Amino acid sequence: MSSNRMLLKKDLKEKRELVNIEVDRFLPRKDEYPKQIHKAIRHTLFAGGKRFRPYLLINTFLLFEEDIRKTLLIAGAIEMLHSYTLIHDDLPEIDNDDYRRGKKSCHVVYGSDIALLAGDALLVYAFDAINSSDIDDRLKHIFIKEMSFEAGHNGLISGQIVDILSENKKVDANTLKFIHKNKTARLIKLPIRFGCHLADVSQEHHERLEKFGENLGLAFQIVDDILDIEGDREILGKTIGKDIKKSKATFPAVYGLEESKKMAADLISKAKELLAPYEERAELLLMLCDFVLTRKF
Ligand code: IPE
Ligand code: IPE
Ligand code: MG
Ligand code: MG
Ligand code: MG
Repeated sequence: MSSNRMLLKKDLKEKRELVNIEVDRFLPRKDEYPKQIHKAIRHTLFAGGKRFRPYLLINTFLLFEEDIRKTLLIAGAIEMLHSYTLIHDDLPEIDNDDYRRGKKSCHVVYGSDIALLAGDALLVYAFDAINSSDIDDRLKHIFIKEMSFEAGHNGLISGQIVDILSENKKVDANTLKFIHKNKTARLIKLPIRFGCHLADVSQEHHERLEKFGENLGLAFQIVDDILDIEGDREILGKTIGKDIKKSKATFPAVYGLEESKKMAADLISKAKELLAPYEERAELLLMLCDFVLTRKF
């Protein structure tokens, strides 16, 4: 493993732990009545996700600031929101996926009824966590507004809806981009925006880093599509081959594998260029960009 990769792995692990501790402290104990919901929530939330979105938030903040304590619960809120999308995405009515984060999916273990409610609860907890954090009211207001927008019918949900409606259809390039930008890039831009807000940066940095997130987010989903074809189930922690099975609108389905890989690489180059002004402070984010392109999980 290259020294960069080792450094990134170590740093990801450290920050993942910090966020996990914060989220664990925030959530009700797993034996609280009614137990089933808390167990179901924790089953997926603590199954071992990468914590990519929290990491993005913290490292965006670190481009400008040093003390990350106030970022942790906000980063956890985004991870709770993300985990809700995974539980619902796996339901039989959507992608019908039995395996997630190296474990049986939430609905396989707890049933669709409980899994649906576990997802609902995580979505609500995401907002509750922001509200319960010790950031000032002005920021809380901004975060709740932005999170509602990005996760809502104009954001992530629109991507998921068009993803479902496009199954078994030939989609054009614009529809494909619409799906990927909304279902995935939205929740990748959001932590970057939150990191900017927490560091109280200028409009210029906001705009630059928003573009960074747009490129990174689209690349992230293209690579997810590629891994569904070329990935290893054990390493990936989720089933492969399911996109072809469901005739999903993916980059490889529209452009082919090789062209999709080129497109992802181009987007990552653009993302990295946008980090140039931050010089050595962007070191870990640059490594993260490389990780997005070469990741196996
Ligand atoms: C999976 O996201 C869903 C997509 C948007 C592609 P991640 O690949 O970040 O999954 P976890 O959080 O590590 O499990
Ligand atoms: C991910 O799309 C989008 C959301 C979960 C919002 P996928 O359906 O491709 O994600 P995986 O492959 O199941 O993780
Ligand atoms: Mg899906
Ligand atoms: Mg899916
Ligand atoms: Mg996928």
